[in-house]
Amino acid sequence: MCGISCLLSLSPACCEWDTRVYEHLKRRGPDCSHDITVTSSSPFYQCLFSAHVLHMRGVLTPQPLQDSTGNILMWNGEIFGGLPVTATENDTVVLLQRLSTCGSASGILSVLSSVRGPWGFVYYQKAAEYLWFGRDFFGRRSLLWKFEAGILTLTSVAANLCQSDESVWHEVPAVGVYGVDLRAASRADRLTFEVYPWTCTGADDLPKVDTISESVPNGCTVVVNQSGLSLTSPVCRLNVALPELINHSQPPVDDLDHLLTNTEVMDDVDSLVHVLSQAVRRRVQALPLVPDGDDDRASVAILFSGGIDSMILAVLADRHIPAEKPIDLLNVAFKLQEKKKQKQSVKNSKKKPVTAEADVTDPGTFRPFDVPDRITGKAGMKELQQISPERRWNFVEINVTPEELKTLRGERITHLVWPLDTVLDDSIGCAVWFASRGSGVIMEGGETRPFSSSAKVILTGIGADEQLAGYSRHRVRFKTSGHQGLIQELDMELGRISSRNLGRDDRVISDHGKEARFPYLDEDVVSHLNSLPVWKKADLSLPRGVGDKLLLRLLGRRLGLAESAVLPKRAMQFGSRIAKMEDGREKASDKCTRLLTG
Ligand SMILES: *[C@@H]1O[C@H](CO)[C@@H](O)[C@H](O)[C@H]1NC(C)=O
Ligand SMILES: *[C@@H]1O[C@H](CO)[C@@H](O)[C@H](O)[C@H]1NC(C)=O
Ligand SMILES: *[C@@H]1O[C@H](CO)[C@@H](O)[C@H](O)[C@H]1NC(C)=O
Repeated sequence: MCGISCLLSLSPACCEWDTRVYEHLKRRGPDCSHDITVTSSSPFYQCLFSAHVLHMRGVLTPQPLQDSTGNILMWNGEIFGGLPVTATENDTVVLLQRLSTCGSASGILSVLSSVRGPWGFVYYQKAAEYLWFGRDFFGRRSLLWKFEAGILTLTSVAANLCQSDESVWHEVPAVGVYGVDLRAASRADRLTFEVYPWTCTGADDLPKVDTISESVPNGCTVVVNQSGLSLTSPVCRLNVALPELINHSQPPVDDLDHLLTNTEVMDDVDSLVHVLSQAVRRRVQALPLVPDGDDDRASVAILFSGGIDSMILAVLADRHIPAEKPIDLLNVAFKLQEKKKQKQSVKNSKKKPVTAEADVTDPGTFRPFDVPDRITGKAGMKELQQISPERRWNFVEINVTPEELKTLRGERITHLVWPLDTVLDDSIGCAVWFASRGSGVIMEGGETRPFSSSAKVILTGIGADEQLAGYSRHRVRFKTSGHQGLIQELDMELGRISSRNLGRDDRVISDHGKEARFPYLDEDVVSHLNSLPVWKKADLSLPRGVGDKLLLRLLGRRLGLAESAVLPKRAMQFGSRIAKMEDGREKASDKCTRLLTG
């Protein structure tokens, strides 16, 4: 994980780093920082490259990386496959070697298409005087851009300095990679980006570039290269088959164990276990070396609510991490207010018994951090201990008070979430920031003691709900428009996950000098899930906690999970109770006033 940034100026006016942005970049890459400037006098252009490296494995490889002919690469990514990288090689070095052998744009696009893993990058191709940049197919790494006072800025993370800044910064849309012909731009004195879109083999529809025009900086233009050059999508298209007429005289089966007696179901489950397990393996084995004698500290942590997505990641990580290494389970809770809570519980108790909820009726036992995710997290930990009793599972209770939330939101989180700015971005951004920081307490021998997770790799379950119909809006859509509607919804959601979640989560987690990894968004996992007909992934005629993410719940059962396999989805902002701290009348999509500074 790195912080990368590039400034491009077409006029000799002074061009320098924003010190705040520079500071934020350094937090992403605390181990080594370098700048390189490239200037051409006729026609004039100037590029400033700045890279800040987080050292993960092997020998430290400083960036920006420059080869003997003057090509420059800044790589904020991980190569998990596609390009051969041997154990003694560095992926940034290997990639630059490959890119430098490419004389043509199509060569560069084919190298980038072959990479499996998350990335954001900037590449200066010296001979062609061409500047390349972009994000991987899903947008798993952040890249922002703005054009202001004649200068283009590309950067992994920005800074929220004032309200007016908001219209200036945008996330670079993950629809393809972009290129600027620097000589042509200088002569025309304007920036035109050529976009080389991701396309699916066998599909003839080019993505609509007009859908991204809102995210293109003012004063710049994006065109699709007329030569038809593109990147090859790393995943197959979504299976849009509709089920045959359902036989209503057959009663629906909502018992997972019963469903698993069907051999076809079992085969589907086993093939998913296989791909997902490999995806987790790739993400937990390519790890930073631990300093000598530090073997009792975890290298991998999991954002952990005890729900099905994070439980499965924990069980699979357990298969691939040496038995003597602990695994950190990061569980975040925002402090409950006693008075408010009591009112709430009276209201709830009229409806139905609330199971995963603190017993708040008795003030003597009121525990302010027993939020729903804490309770399911503890239960999940017990299940993990049963499945893998030899393993040390560090269940890290991360407790956040309103005062601490306010301070750190203002100091840090607001800059990281930026340019996203809704109430939902605020809630999730804050919850993920505190969770991934990993400072809290663990319970040992009946006592709690302070604990700080040292794991540089953090697994998150993002992508499971979007692909396997985990959200309640899927249920709504299914009710109103059937399988067809559900398929459209799923297709749309995976398409927008970069702009909705991934850029933000990457910026937030990397702020701790840690790296987020997303097994559910592994190319092979997505391809596998895309190939399955929708009714194998979810059956929304079945109750909540069973039919949503059905295939994943079956998989959980197969791996030995008990109660956690049938927990209904609870969104992080509610599970951690951060949403409870704030004004109850605001909507998730409203602009969040708490994110505004100065
Ligand atoms: C390459 O070097 C960077 C910076 O030192 C490091 O973070 C990364 O993990 C290395 N990659 C490999 C595959 O060793
Ligand atoms: C498309 O890309 C090729 C190769 O980089 C370039 O020669 C050509 O000018 C581009 N076409 C347009 C319309 O910009
Ligand atoms: C529908 O299900 C019933 C009960 O299992 C079965 O007897 C019947 O043959 C099925 N009909 C069709 C058309 O498959």
